[in-house]
This record gives sequence, C-alpha cells and structure tokens, in this order.
Amino acid sequence: MDGPVKTNKITRRDFLKITGFTLGGSILTCFGLNYLASRSLEAETGRLEKSEFTFGEANSVDTSVLVAYATYAGSTMEVAEAIGKELGARGFRVAVKPITDTLHLNGYKAVILGSAVQYGAWLPEAVDFVEANQQSLEKVRVALLSVHIQNLEDDPTSRAARLAYLDGVRPFVQAEEEVFFAGRFDRRGAALLLPKLIAWAMPDMDKRDWKKIRTWAQTVFA
Ligand SMILES: Cc1cc2nc3c(=O)[nH]c(=O)nc-3n(C[C@H](O)[C@H](O)[C@H](O)COP(=O)(O)O)c2cc1C
Repeated sequence: MDGPVKTNKITRRDFLKITGFTLGGSILTCFGLNYLASRSLEAETGRLEKSEFTFGEANSVDTSVLVAYATYAGSTMEVAEAIGKELGARGFRVAVKPITDTLHLNGYKAVILGSAVQYGAWLPEAVDFVEANQQSLEKVRVALLSVHIQNLEDDPTSRAARLAYLDGVRPFVQAEEEVFFAGRFDRRGAALLLPKLIAWAMPDMDKRDWKKIRTWAQTVFA
C-alpha cells in the first residue's frame, strides 16, 4: 500500500505561517517592552519643578545679582543654586530663577545666564530671553554659563566645539565671562534623545564637578 509519503519538509505555506508568527511576536514584544519602558519613564521622571531660590537676603540691594537658568532635566538648576549660594556667602544679594518670558532684569547689577546644552545649542527659552532682553543686558554685568556633557576635553577641537554652543546668543549679548561645566545625563534627558527602551536601560551619569563650580562662583564679578 503506497500512500502519500510523510516527510518533515516544510511547505511554503508553513514557512510563511511560522515566520509570520515569529515576526509578529517580535514586533509585539518590542512594542510592548517599549510601551512599558515609556510608562515606567513617565512615572519615574514626572514633570520637573523649576524652583526659585534667594541667598544673602540681608545684603544690600546694590549688590543684587540674578542667576537665571534654563533646564530640561534639572542639573543646570542645581548648578545655578550652588552658584547662588556661593555668591550670597560672598556678600551679594542673590535671586536664582528659571528663565521664562516674564522674567525681568530690573534692579539687578549683574546677571548670570545659564542653560543646558541640547543639540549643540542653548535651550530655546534661554536664546529667546537673551534676544528679547538685549538692551537691558547692555546695562548690567553679564556672565554666561553652559552645562553640557560632550566636548569636555581641553584640546582645541573640543574647546572650539563647546565655544560654538554660544553661537546663537553671542550676537545679542556682550558677556565678560563664559564658563562651561560638565553636567548630568539622566533618563529624563535620554528619553528625549533616544528610543524609550534604550533610555530606560541607560545608566544615569553625573559629571558635575562641584568644587570647580564653587571655585568659579567665588571669583565671578570680583
Ligand atoms: C536631547 C539632548 C540633547 C543633548 N545635546 C547635547 C549636545 O549637543 N552637546 C552636549 O555637550 N551635551 C548635550 N546633551 C547633554 C546635556 O547638555 C546634559 O545632560 C545637561 O547636564 C542637561 O542639563 P539639564 O539637566 O539642566 O537639562 C544633551 C542632552 C539631551 C537630553
């Protein structure tokens, strides 16, 4: 009795079914994981609260300094706070505030403008603020502060690359000093830059050198 011979050969239809299921499964797993990662990131990062701080409130109004910062993930705010604290101890009357379009420069003798760097430039609200306040900035002492994570080395290429972070603001302001500090790269920031799944898996990295930051604050506007 010669019936049909049973072989283990996979037919074209079987192949398509198997690859279809495998591919579909991988896509679903990937989307599922990415969805979970994004939910987890949202829960973890929340919305950053941008705070105001004052230091040296007993000091004369003639010494009023504004430290205005633009941040996405908060590290520039903490740098601004540390600088404000140091200036307060030096005898200045200090306000540390987030940069917004309602921030005014009236009454300050000196201003430190600080921003996180993203995509090779200051954050848009900081650039817009400098452009909108060009005239007021001419009447005060100004220092510019950038917080970033790339181009931290001391070679000419690295130095030129970090100086270029200010190309968008230099046309609008004459600063007596420009300073660059290493920042912190965390998931809140990475979530913007990278697919959520990768951002979720990224380790946090904090390169801020508090001694260097405080040392600078002890000499600026001397
Ligand atoms: C979307 C994105 C883009 C970035 N682009 C740059 C860049 O072009 N150059 C650089 O040096 N750092 C870059 N960084 C690193 C940030 O400047 C650094 O993490 C900084 O400390 C963030 O400050 P913040 O915590 O105040 O937002 C980038 C970070 C993010 C999230």
